[in-house]
Amino acid sequence: MRKFVSFSLCSVLIIGFILLAHAQMSQMSDKAKLGRELFHDPTFKGTIKTTAGNKQGYATGLSCANCHADFDDKANPDGLIRAGHSVVGVPHRGEAKGGMIKGADFARAAGGGGFCYEHFLQRVPHDKVNPTAIPAEHAEALMAYFEFISGDNKGPEFEIAMLDEDAKKAAGEKLAAMSGDAQKGWELFGRACVVCHPTPFKAGIGSQVIRSRAPRNIDAAMARWATKIRGGGFLMPFYAPDILSDQDIADILAFLRQELENL
Ligand code: HEC
Ligand code: HEC
Repeated sequence: MRKFVSFSLCSVLIIGFILLAHAQMSQMSDKAKLGRELFHDPTFKGTIKTTAGNKQGYATGLSCANCHADFDDKANPDGLIRAGHSVVGVPHRGEAKGGMIKGADFARAAGGGGFCYEHFLQRVPHDKVNPTAIPAEHAEALMAYFEFISGDNKGPEFEIAMLDEDAKKAAGEKLAAMSGDAQKGWELFGRACVVCHPTPFKAGIGSQVIRSRAPRNIDAAMARWATKIRGGGFLMPFYAPDILSDQDIADILAFLRQELENL
């Protein structure tokens, strides 16, 4: 009898949860639903080409979800460290890329996501990206999804400082001179980097960081690598200081240095 009671109680709870989840989902417009799918799909519902017909523009295998949370990951961390900020609050921002995208272009560029769409999903070089080249229908769908998940939540507050080459290099040299904790660095590598570098010894979307032979000048390599983490690369995203602190990067470098020295 007791078994039966707890069983029925369980079923009631489960059915309740399903109904609740259903009620929440059904408030989502078709446009927002499309936006949700696009956000998670590296092929963007098959609209991104798989091969380079003209060298420019082919699928990298990255999705928006690889670099941005679609929930408030500061308030509810899931353990992963994403290079970009949560897209919760995007519709409230009104401008993106440090003011480079604003006015009517803001919505047309999916709140700045149009830049990432061309650059990170289709490999268009930074200086050739047109943030409003994303199809209008897809920009609208993404914005509808961002509105759905944001409501009144203004999302994380942050400032993006666009570093020039000299500033990136200076940041790299400063970071390479700091000491760090290799064990913490390995954990951070796992949470932040494996999406593109499955391990430091294996290439994925990112290159193989540690090759069979250590670079001749390890200190110089550390400064170069630190520059890449803080400043970004061709396809590698930059990590802003509120996402990886100076100490976090020093810890990652300590881990990579340890692996190089053990080769
Ligand atoms: C490889 C990582 C990566 C991918 C993939 C990526 N982004 Fe980004 N995105 C970034 C980084 C880094 C920034 C700059 C830091 C920030 O603003 O969070 C950024 C900025 C943005 C911004 C503007 C924030 C602002 O105000 O400057 C939006 C919106 C955005 N991305 C949406 C998207 C959407 C939509 C997609 C998928 C089409 C996408 N991103 C794919 C890394 C990525
Ligand atoms: C979205 C994919 C992506 C993520 C995430 C990513 N990388 Fe990369 N990384 C790349 C790509 C692609 C390259 C190749 C060069 C380029 O893009 O400039 C690269 C290159 C590098 C290099 C330079 C290797 C060399 O031989 O010069 C280092 C070091 C590196 N990544 C470290 C990291 C670390 C540490 C993290 C995590 C904090 C990380 N990467 C996260 C994609 C990524």
